[in-house]
Amino acid sequence: MSLPEWLNGDDKDGDVPFSAAEILERCDILATHSSRVGAIERSYLTAEHARTNWTVGEWMAQAGLEPWQDAAGNQRGTLAGPRDDSPVLLLGSHLDTVPGAGRYDGILGTLMAIAVVGRLEAKGVRLPFGIEVLGFADEEGTRFGRTLLGSCAVAGAWQDSWWELRDAQGISLRTAFEAFGLDPARIEEAALPRERVLGYLEAHIEQGPLLEDADRALGVVTGIMGARRFDLTMVGEAGHAGGMPYGRRRDALLGASEVVTVIETLARDHGAIGTVGRMQAYPGAANVIPGRAEFSLDLRAETDELRDRVWDLIQEQAAKVAAARNLDFQAVERHDAEATVVGERLAEAIRAGIAATGDTAPLELLSKAGHDAMAIASLTDYAMLFIRCGGGISHHKDESVIEADVALALDAFEAAVLDLARTF
Ligand code: GLV
Ligand code: MN
Ligand code: MN
Repeated sequence: MSLPEWLNGDDKDGDVPFSAAEILERCDILATHSSRVGAIERSYLTAEHARTNWTVGEWMAQAGLEPWQDAAGNQRGTLAGPRDDSPVLLLGSHLDTVPGAGRYDGILGTLMAIAVVGRLEAKGVRLPFGIEVLGFADEEGTRFGRTLLGSCAVAGAWQDSWWELRDAQGISLRTAFEAFGLDPARIEEAALPRERVLGYLEAHIEQGPLLEDADRALGVVTGIMGARRFDLTMVGEAGHAGGMPYGRRRDALLGASEVVTVIETLARDHGAIGTVGRMQAYPGAANVIPGRAEFSLDLRAETDELRDRVWDLIQEQAAKVAAARNLDFQAVERHDAEATVVGERLAEAIRAGIAATGDTAPLELLSKAGHDAMAIASLTDYAMLFIRCGGGISHHKDESVIEADVALALDAFEAAVLDLARTF
């Protein structure tokens, strides 16, 4: 298929189709599908999302996949198996980004999945199963607060209550669906029938420094930490920044700030991870005591029990902070994803894939970052291949990977698929 030149990149190096160089060039192209000039931001059900699906659909077709957009806005590509009812192996990652993102989180894994199919097709390999490549539409949850919307739809785990989630502009998820050209009444059509699915493999940058510290290009994931996210609010009373004496103030921002440090202390002491990534004071003027402070909490741990215990302790301490300052503390849960572990057979395939690249005892890593695999785990087993990223930096414009690592990762991912085919 001949594509417009811009869609193929400038091809200055005469990239081999489905090579690491081509994938990296395509990551650069998708980085331009952004709502902000000079920064990457691509959230769910936006014009950038639509452009990305179209572009990725063209690349899917080039690789021999039948491209289509599902009822949740995920970009999918199907490679038929030998029979109409052949089981399907799922490969993929996500195409949305956080604000101020890098160009590889999710994108690299999706493009690698497409490239693996393209490579197998080019070699004339006939697999005993079908493949579906998934470019998930909303892993980050940036727009509506609830993460993994795209993969939950595919897993058949969509919840009706989500239709009333609202973005920062007050637009409901239902309205955003309709504006994107999707029909909320058809959401169930995105779900895959459990009995058809063989498993799910995802390649992703590590988003941490462990591979780099160990001088390894690739690693095998053992499981993914569970996460909960909350909208937290401290309510006090606004007042004059000069006239109101300290003893009578009900400064909501001071209360919220104390809770932020409580979160860090409790999470660190108990081996969990708590992050406050957003805080806003109201009414927001230099000479007004903040009467309200709104802030977020992202809380993760290796087990759900530990994460939930730390949340109980945070709530207890926050209530004490609020009482001491005559404030009201409120918490609304926005997101909850269980900790999961990989499927052993699929992880074995990833290990075999990495071994085929020369590392016969790959580093095993627990993913502290969330992934679509967490949602897909309710549908089928999953396994993940991690790729070293520079300095462990992610969710930042300086996210980086080395082309040689991506080349190794491609070989390993392809070998993992072939390992599954051999014992199918
Ligand atoms: C997704 O990147 C997450 O871990 O929040
Ligand atoms: Mn991310
Ligand atoms: Mn990601």
